[in-house]
Amino acid sequence: MSSPLRLGIAGLGTVGIGVVKIVQKHAGLLAMRSGREVAITAVSARDRMKNRDADLSAYRWEDDPMAVATADDVDLYVELIGGDNGIARDSIQAALRAGKDVVTANKALLAMHGQDLALLAEDLGRVIRFEAAVAGGIPVIKTMTESLAGNDIGRVMGVMNGTCNYILTRMESAGLPYEAVFEEARQLGYLEADPQLDVGGIDASHKLAILSAIAFGTQVDFDAVEIEGIERVSIDDIRRAADMGYRIKLLGVAQMTARGLEQRMSPCLVPADSPLGQLVGGTNMVVLEGDSVGQIVLRGAGAGEGPTASAVLSDIVEIARGVRMAMFGQPASRLKTARPARTAVPAAYYMRLELQDKPGALAKVASVLGDAGISIDRMRQYGQHSDTSVPVLVVTHKTTPEAIDYAIQTLPRTGVLVSDPVELRIEEV
Ligand SMILES: NC(=O)c1ccc[n+]([C@@H]2O[C@H](COP(=O)([O-])OP(=O)(O)OC[C@H]3O[C@@H](n4cnc5c(N)ncnc54)[C@H](OP(=O)(O)O)[C@@H]3O)[C@@H](O)[C@H]2O)c1
Repeated sequence: MSSPLRLGIAGLGTVGIGVVKIVQKHAGLLAMRSGREVAITAVSARDRMKNRDADLSAYRWEDDPMAVATADDVDLYVELIGGDNGIARDSIQAALRAGKDVVTANKALLAMHGQDLALLAEDLGRVIRFEAAVAGGIPVIKTMTESLAGNDIGRVMGVMNGTCNYILTRMESAGLPYEAVFEEARQLGYLEADPQLDVGGIDASHKLAILSAIAFGTQVDFDAVEIEGIERVSIDDIRRAADMGYRIKLLGVAQMTARGLEQRMSPCLVPADSPLGQLVGGTNMVVLEGDSVGQIVLRGAGAGEGPTASAVLSDIVEIARGVRMAMFGQPASRLKTARPARTAVPAAYYMRLELQDKPGALAKVASVLGDAGISIDRMRQYGQHSDTSVPVLVVTHKTTPEAIDYAIQTLPRTGVLVSDPVELRIEEV
């Protein structure tokens, strides 16, 4: 067997400790599969005295991750600290410059600085791998860069934030409003310290931007993702959507069009009986469409100690085997600058309107939709919500986002709505 691959791990939280445990538990298996021993030499975190549920006594402790990143007895720097800047970025750059390869799970960092890091790694002849950064335990990076290398990818879709999917499915199953389930999720520890990262769609958009780069050979362009979180999804919409055969998911979609790259993260309706519609709780799903392979659906745990550490280990073993691959599946210097395009791909839309209960109200709605060029596929009127209003649901035929925007802006001017209209895209899956 060749010499051991010596790991330096910075960050001993959920993921870092998960990695330590697997290296300890599966030392023999990893050595067999890698063709060499995988050994931890140095570790770092903020608080040396913290009880970490793993025996770290065999490893050198460093208070400063930089010392791990640049140590002579470290071949591979494993960055599991997190954050889109600061010590995570600095230590990765230092490790590359010191001649180390890097494994990270840091989607925020890659979404913001992935291109620069990839260029630096290439210049220095090093590799950076990041399977755990997107959808935790689901092997989507390898699937795209390796298994689908012979495909032109048409569209990438995914439910990639387990907390949002938990909140939406729990709202439906318990019939609870958003605010109540949000509070539950907070108490269960499911939310990031800054909950906007989850419910605001930012974390999932980091992942989408990374997948777009691989799928379309473009530089990561997180700033171009059109992002809407789940805060405006009401229990009413969840119920009504279910009545019409749909579920609401925070769905990321990236596709290349003639006008440019569309990347959107927004609450969408998907058919309740589709794989995405069936996804419940904190599970993640990524749907990939290739011109030769057709549609592939990957489903699994998107977070947590074991699943995320499993993905980190897959990268470690690849590097131990000597696999050297460009970060985004092709040399970073050849990745095109993405030409961002606002969503224009037509889709069917769901609209919920709260109308005054008086003659002619529906006719006024129909007239606005007609003026917008929107034709109606299905319309359903419910019993009175109050003495004076009735909810009306509309599912349109395929139409453009522009036409929907026009309708949403014009409908309140008819004077027959008692509240703002709600619109949600129905994604074809
Ligand atoms: N958790 C998941 O399920 C999951 C899934 C996919 C990807 N990821 C990504 O994996 C990375 C790690 O996530 P995590 O959940 O394991 O985070 P975490 O539990 O918060 O752990 C972070 C670790 O980094 C250490 N740390 C923070 N600042 C440091 C500094 N300045 N110097 C040295 N160490 C420092 C902390 O030290 P102390 O312990 O001493 O405070 C802690 O051990 C993040 O990029 C995250 O986005 C996580």
